Amino acid sequence: MSETVMPRVVKTSADLRLATSELLGGHPATNHADQQRSLGFVPTMGALHEGHAALARAARRDNEVVVASIFVNPLQFGEPSDLQRYPRQLEKDLELLAGCGVDLVFAPSEEEMYPAGPPLVTVNSGELGQKFEGAARPGHFDGMLTVVAKLLHRVAPGVEAAYRCYFGQKDAQQLALIRRMVNDLDYPAEIIAVPTVRTPAGLALSSRNRFLEADEEDAALVLSRALRLLVDRARRHEPLDIDSAVALVTGQPEVSLDYFEVVDPSTLEPLAFNCKDKPFTGEALALVAARVGSVRLIDNAPLGQ
Ligand code: PAF
Repeated sequence: MSETVMPRVVKTSADLRLATSELLGGHPATNHADQQRSLGFVPTMGALHEGHAALARAARRDNEVVVASIFVNPLQFGEPSDLQRYPRQLEKDLELLAGCGVDLVFAPSEEEMYPAGPPLVTVNSGELGQKFEGAARPGHFDGMLTVVAKLLHRVAPGVEAAYRCYFGQKDAQQLALIRRMVNDLDYPAEIIAVPTVRTPAGLALSSRNRFLEADEEDAALVLSRALRLLVDRARRHEPLDIDSAVALVTGQPEVSLDYFEVVDPSTLEPLAFNCKDKPFTGEALALVAARVGSVRLIDNAPLGQ
C-alpha cells in the first residue's frame, strides 16, 4: 500500500519560486517538443471540503506540478466578525490536499501578502462586481480580485510551463470576474471551471454549511430543488417558469430569499431573449442567494449547456 505524501508547505514568495522551479525542473515529463510542461494552481482560503478536493484532483489530472494556496484574505471580508469566525484548520487542509496529490502549498501570512498594509491600488471589479453578491457584500469582489491577481503573479511558472488555474462553478460571479480580469489584464493563465460538488441530497458544498443547524440544512435544500426545476425545463426546451422556482423558495419559512435570477453566463446581465414565455433554447445561468438562519448561501445552475 502506498503512503500518502504530504505536500511541501512554503510561506514566502521566495521559497515558493524556488520550490516551483525545482518541481518543474524535476519534470522533463515529455519527449515531445510541442508538449509543454504545466503547472496547475488551486487558490483557496482553507476550510477545505470535497468541492476543493475536486479542484485539486482536476489540477492533478491535467498537470505535472500542482500548487495550492491557503490564505484567508482580509480584503474580501466586510464584517471583522466574519473574518474572525472563518475556520482555520491548516493540518486538516494539508491532509485533504495530500490525498489529492498536491505537490506544494503556499500558505503566506498577512504580512507576506500585504507587507505595506492594506494596498492603496486594488483591482476594480467594475459593474460586474457591484451586482448580486457584490451588492450584498460591498468591496468583496475588489478584495477577491486583488488577492487573486497577486497570487496568480506569485505562483506563475513563467514561460517554461503552461499555467492553469482552477475555480469552482459554485461561485459563479467570482468565476466570471476572474475570467474577465485574466482577459482584461492579459494574464497568461488558463482559467478552468470545475462543476459544483453537492451532498447526496443536493446541497452545494460550502465552508459555510458547517454553521447550519440540521433543520436549516434540510430547509436549504429548497435552493437546489428550485434550480433543478429550471434545469429540467431548459433540458426539455420549455419556457423556464421562474415564478414557480421562486415560489418554491419563498414557500420555505426558514429561508429568506435575496435574489433568484436567470442571466447571461459571462456578463450576468439579464438575458437578451425571453425565457419565461418562449421555449428555452440558448445558454443561461440561474443564480440564487438566500439566508438560512444566520448563514448566507449561494447556488447556481448552468442552463442549456
Ligand atoms: O474562493 C475562494 O476561496 C477565494 O475567494 C479565493 C479565490 C481563494 C480568493 O481569496
